[in-house]
Amino acid sequence: MKVIAINGSPRKGGNTEIMLKKVLETLEKHNVETKLIQIGGQNIHGCRGCWACRKNQDRKCVFNDDMLNKILEEVFNADAIILGTPSYFSDMTPEMKAFIDRVGVVALSNGKLLKHKIGAGIIAQRRGGGTSIQASLNHMFLMSEMIVPGSTYWNLGFGKDKGEISNDIEAIDNMVNLAENIYWLLEKIKK
Ligand SMILES: Cc1cc2nc3c(=O)[nH]c(=O)nc-3n(C[C@H](O)[C@H](O)[C@H](O)COP(=O)(O)O)c2cc1C
Repeated sequence: MKVIAINGSPRKGGNTEIMLKKVLETLEKHNVETKLIQIGGQNIHGCRGCWACRKNQDRKCVFNDDMLNKILEEVFNADAIILGTPSYFSDMTPEMKAFIDRVGVVALSNGKLLKHKIGAGIIAQRRGGGTSIQASLNHMFLMSEMIVPGSTYWNLGFGKDKGEISNDIEAIDNMVNLAENIYWLLEKIKK
């Protein structure tokens, strides 16, 4: 079983990363292989809408000028994909949106490569935006026929400065519970 987490925050070691790591740590206790991939602050551009991926059918984006193709196979080989982003003007970061659009289109163009994988979206916020961002992240999961587990509340935590999210005990507990639900589902799917 392999789970990857994608950090869409450009602030490395920040609140989004803390929440993602809590999920990964919990899964590791069940001997699940995990990996955190940083896309926030990296070179990753949006979908250019050329549909060359649909024609080429090579599991890649036709643009090799950024990091996306280097991480695509890891995404397609994972059993669960966790997307983390801070709330930026009540929306996901541009890096996360770029990732979602291009991964989603390449996957659909190559025979539904995300189908039946598990997907979970996680949001760090100072005050607001979290629930609609979680819905946006779910759009790609559900349109890709992925399975989205719930937790005790929406997967969001409150914090502004780096590390502040650790004081949001309910959010941290929610991450642990989310990880447990992902593991429960993984066991059923991988049987
Ligand atoms: C450009 C920018 C826009 C932001 N907009 C919002 C917002 O609309 N709502 C909110 O609650 N927090 C907003 N924040 C605060 C971040 O979501 C918050 O600090 C979060 O914990 C950052 O997570 P990170 O440490 O993983 O980067 C904004 C921060 C930045 C830098």
